[in-house]
Order: sequence, then C-alpha cells, then structure tokens
Amino acid sequence: MKVAVLGAAGGIGQALSLLLKNDLPAGSELSLYDIAPVTPGVAKDLSHIPTDVAIEGFAGEDPTPALEGADLVLISAGVARKPGMDRADLFNVNAGIVKNLIEKVAATCPKACVGIITNPVNTTVAIAREVLKNAGVYDKNKLFGVTTLDVIRSETFIAEAKGLKATDINVNVIGGHSGVTILPLLSQVQGVEFSDEEIASLTDRIQNAGTEVVEAKAGGGSATLSMGQAAARFGLSVVAALNGKQGVVECAYVDGGSEHAEFFAQPVLLGLNGVEQVQSYGEISSFEQTALNDMLDTLKGDIVKGVEFVK
Ligand SMILES: NC(=O)c1ccc[n+]([C@@H]2O[C@H](COP(=O)([O-])OP(=O)(O)OC[C@H]3O[C@@H](n4cnc5c(N)ncnc54)[C@H](O)[C@@H]3O)[C@@H](O)[C@H]2O)c1
Repeated sequence: MKVAVLGAAGGIGQALSLLLKNDLPAGSELSLYDIAPVTPGVAKDLSHIPTDVAIEGFAGEDPTPALEGADLVLISAGVARKPGMDRADLFNVNAGIVKNLIEKVAATCPKACVGIITNPVNTTVAIAREVLKNAGVYDKNKLFGVTTLDVIRSETFIAEAKGLKATDINVNVIGGHSGVTILPLLSQVQGVEFSDEEIASLTDRIQNAGTEVVEAKAGGGSATLSMGQAAARFGLSVVAALNGKQGVVECAYVDGGSEHAEFFAQPVLLGLNGVEQVQSYGEISSFEQTALNDMLDTLKGDIVKGVEFVK
C-alpha cells in the first residue's frame, strides 16, 4: 500500500505522518507532499525511525511525484482556524487548494481512496466530488470526509463524564463536520445512562470542541495532534480494509445515498474498494431527531457551496 499525505509539513500532516510511519503495515510506502520546502526534510527525519515503511518527501508546486501509485491520499493542506473564525471562514483559501490538489489526484491516481481533512469538510468534499466528476473518474466509494476527530472526542468526553475507560467507548457521530452538523448519538452508547442535561451539554461540547482547542492555542492554530491521531486511525482502517481485513467500520462523511443530504457522515463498512456498505445509524432519540432535522439546511447549504464553487 502506498499512502500519500498532502499538507504533510503542517501541524496535522507531521503528526499524521509520524503515526503512519510507525503503524502502517510492513512493506508500505508513505509519500509526503507540501508546498513548504521543509517537506523532504520531514521525510528524512521520519526515515530514521526503524519501521519497514519506505518514506519519500516532495516539496514545490506539483504533487504528482508524491501521488504516483498511491492507494490512499490524505489531504490536510490548507489554512487552519484562528480564534474568532469558524470553519466556513476558511473556505476562500482552502476551496482552491483542495480543487487544485484533487485535479492532480484525478490525473495521477484516479483509483485511489481520498480522505479530506481540510476544512470546511462539509464543503471541500463536495468540491472534490465535482472535480473528480468533471475528470470522469468519480467513484463515490472512494471519497471520504474525515470526521474521525468528532468520534475520538466523543469517546474521550463520554469517558471523562462517566468515569469510564475511553478505549471502551464506541459512539457513532453522524451528519457533517461543523457546529450543529456534528451529531454524536449518545443515546446509543452501550451501558451508559445520561440525563437530559448531560446529553445537551456533552453534545454542545463535542460540537464545539474544535473551538476549545483554537482558543487554548490562542492564535497558534487548531487541533493538530488529536487530528493527526484521528486521521491515522481513519487511514489505517482504510488500509487494513484495502488489504482484505473484514468488518472494519468507521464513521465518515460520504456520498452514500443518505435520505438526508447528498453527503452525510455515518458508519461505513470499509472493504477492498473503499466503502463496501453504508450502514444504518440505527435508532435515535427524539433529542437527536430534532438536532438532525435542525442541521439539514446548514449541511445542504454547505454542500451546494462546494458544487457552486467548482461551477
Ligand atoms: N477534519 C478535521 O477534523 C480537521 C481538524 C482540524 C483541522 N482541520 C483542517 O486541516 C487543515 C490543516 O490544518 P493544520 O493545523 O495542519 O494547518 P497548518 O497550517 O499547520 O498546515 C497546513 C499545511 O498545508 C500546506 N499547504 C498549503 N497550501 C498547500 C498546497 N496547495 N499544497 C500542499 N500543501 C499546502 C502548508 O504549507 C502547511 O504545511 C486546515 O484546513 C484545518 O482547518 C481539519
């Protein structure tokens, strides 16, 4: 398997690349690309870690050498939030970056699975779809918005609130990846009872957890280390499934035929060709149903914005 990280010199990209260098299966290749000139140095640095994962780094205007032969492309290239910004404020810069990079993916590794981390994910994934469609290489089973950070935050915050082991918590997070579109299905968490107040406050905390980090970093960026971990979890799951592992399920923002919106985050079974099956998110509570209904205008608007951008 060859995994390409685009935006690899950034806060997320470096953390993600470190985790992949350590945890990709032996014999894998990792290729790093970023416009920043430091990128070959990041790869050289990581190459001294004794794992059987080959690594190369490329800088400059053209990601093509990093993309050749890639099975999975993870994209975190772009600008991150500063205090007072929401994810939509990133649109003007990041939309163009994602569009240009996906054009190169379409030309160089059109059969690769692509995971988009660059915000606003609700919109950048729609941009990617339009670019891939225009190039005639779109496969809905291979395009993902990476929402795993919402899942790991939910696991952590539930465990904290209930005094449980975070590694024992499983939770689906559905919808999108921004504010009210992030909907953790707390009613489904096994073996845990929440009061109405706890549900309201935990849901709010999970939806706004990114802002907690942005404010704590006080102008120094947004989540990078936890996002690196989340993207590594997602990427390693995709690689495991591409390698034939059965039963690998992750929540991701996909074009999966949802009744709610053209793209919707929900659990997907991963397989040899990306999404093998979009799974039902199951029974939800009336609180969750109301939150779902209330998010849809925002989510659909975010998707339309991406489609319009490419037009
Ligand atoms: N999906 C999520 O849950 C999630 C969570 C946190 C952050 N993010 C997003 O991830 C993105 C990256 O965040 P970060 O903290 O790593 O930012 P960062 O500024 O540390 O890194 C971004 C990197 O992208 C590179 N870059 C810019 N334009 C490029 C291009 N055209 N080609 C290749 N590389 C390019 C920059 O040189 C930089 O190294 C942001 O858009 C951020 O909002 C997503």
